[in-house]
Amino acid sequence: MRALIVYESMFGNTAAVADAIAAGLRPRFEVEVCPVSVAVNRPAPEVDLLVVGGPTHAFGLSRPATRQDAAGRTTTSVDTEIGVREWLDAALPVPAPRGAAAFGTKIARPPWLPGSAAKSVGRRLRQLGYHLVVPPTDFRVTDMTGPLTAGELERATAWAAQLTTSEPGVPRSPR
Ligand SMILES: Cc1cc2nc3c(=O)[nH]c(=O)nc-3n(C[C@H](O)[C@H](O)[C@H](O)COP(=O)(O)O)c2cc1C
Repeated sequence: MRALIVYESMFGNTAAVADAIAAGLRPRFEVEVCPVSVAVNRPAPEVDLLVVGGPTHAFGLSRPATRQDAAGRTTTSVDTEIGVREWLDAALPVPAPRGAAAFGTKIARPPWLPGSAAKSVGRRLRQLGYHLVVPPTDFRVTDMTGPLTAGELERATAWAAQLTTSEPGVPRSPR
């Protein structure tokens, strides 16, 4: 079975979570991890499981202006043209239900801060016809540029280990 992880990351934290998710999937899936700027040329991936994640910006998915803001806070070259919002906007609906999972990163404190990239990604994946195999999940960073809070990479790997291609309670149909 094939899994594709598409992620957006300005400071490297969501990228690290994507790699940790890949580690959790690898025993059962052939996994490709793809930055969204590369995935832009693959709008309708033929995979058994699609996993999409990005950072929470301004209570939701990043936009060009928030990515410009982030780019000004790092010396690393980052792509401000395309994020998961734009990639999902351009993605074609899937002809038959297919498994997917959504993840994101957001600031740990205050814990009540609203907005979740994971939930926004999940909503868009459902609109495209994917079924979410687990609820959208956020992983926490200690500050805007990171690092991830202690234990989040391990939690991401454990989260990935429970991902299947079926909706909870719905057995996978034979292929
Ligand atoms: C412009 C901007 C807006 C942000 N807005 C939020 C926000 O509304 N809520 C939140 O929890 N984190 C917010 N953050 C923090 C990001 O979630 C954090 O930078 C991200 O999780 C780090 O992941 P990355 O290293 O993959 O970019 C914001 C960061 C930036 C740069």
